[in-house]
Amino acid sequence: MAKILKKEVLAPNIKKFVVLAPEVAQKALPGQFVIVRVCEEGERIPLTIADFDKKKGTVTIVFQEVGKTTYHLGTLNEGEEILDFVGPLGKPSEIEKFGTVCCIGGGVGTPEIYPVARALKEIGNYIIVIIGARTKELVIMENEMRKVADEIYITTDDGSYGMKGLVTDALKKLLVENKKIDRVIAVGPVIMMKAVSELTKEYNIKTIVSLNPMMLDGTGMCGICRVEIGGETKFACVDGPEFDGHLVNYDLLMARLRTYLEEEKISLKLFKEKMGIQ
Ligand code: FAD
Ligand code: FES
Ligand code: MG
Repeated sequence: MAKILKKEVLAPNIKKFVVLAPEVAQKALPGQFVIVRVCEEGERIPLTIADFDKKKGTVTIVFQEVGKTTYHLGTLNEGEEILDFVGPLGKPSEIEKFGTVCCIGGGVGTPEIYPVARALKEIGNYIIVIIGARTKELVIMENEMRKVADEIYITTDDGSYGMKGLVTDALKKLLVENKKIDRVIAVGPVIMMKAVSELTKEYNIKTIVSLNPMMLDGTGMCGICRVEIGGETKFACVDGPEFDGHLVNYDLLMARLRTYLEEEKISLKLFKEKMGIQ
């Protein structure tokens, strides 16, 4: 059981919880995730550790309500408890002195990349941040990212804030201007990570992406999180979730993420009806 100490709505359908989970906080490292179960009959879902405080024993998660479980999680309030909150899971990010690191966050990928960017900054890397969102109100964690960034660029698809376009447009601009970038880390929708990787491949820049396949146990036993990396099968929960972006079979990942679309739609519809959510 993990008590929700603070609940914040960051944007429409994007919520942030600060949760009391001292055992997870003690061991958490940037790039790791937790597996959450909301109730006894509930499914397990993975969520990235968006922040942690070892002294206070707290872990922060930021999630977008996209389906039944994330909507259900979003109905919980401060003082209530999340039934299972297991972690930290997955391999932590590589935190080394690389030089100039461009950290790219799309949508809820921004909170996911925040502790990684912060840790890279703390050991002396020069951090370029690119945040992308569909529209201004979906730009999240901007203030936190500004604190760890040496340079920051914001893109919105509709041009309502920052540069109009995609994160790849901002990255391309930097690359065309011959900006020296030693490493790129991109976290966000699969299509975004694919586009970033295609671009950086042309420029031969090492690129790390954090993959989000379906997960169940998160400990390497069920195999549902399998992804193809350089032609080999890997389990994202124990071998990742971070991988070399140039080696990922993104099309297979996208196809696998769509496996249960129909069932997920029905499940969300029934849940919304039951809870009276629009
Ligand atoms: P559903 O309607 O059940 O599913 C919506 C879509 O989410 C599906 O089509 C599928 O693509 C995906 N999905 C469904 N079930 C799972 C599952 N068990 N595991 C993973 N993906 C699933 N989301 C955030 O908002 N914030 C995060 O910090 C975050 N971190 C993640 C870290 C990792 C390592 C992974 C693998 C995923 C992460 N996700 C994160 C995605 C999140 O787990 C899914 O959005 C969530 O499971 C959807 O569940 P649902 O029941 O609400 O929606
Ligand atoms: Fe079961 Fe990775 S989630 S093996
Ligand atoms: Mg679900």
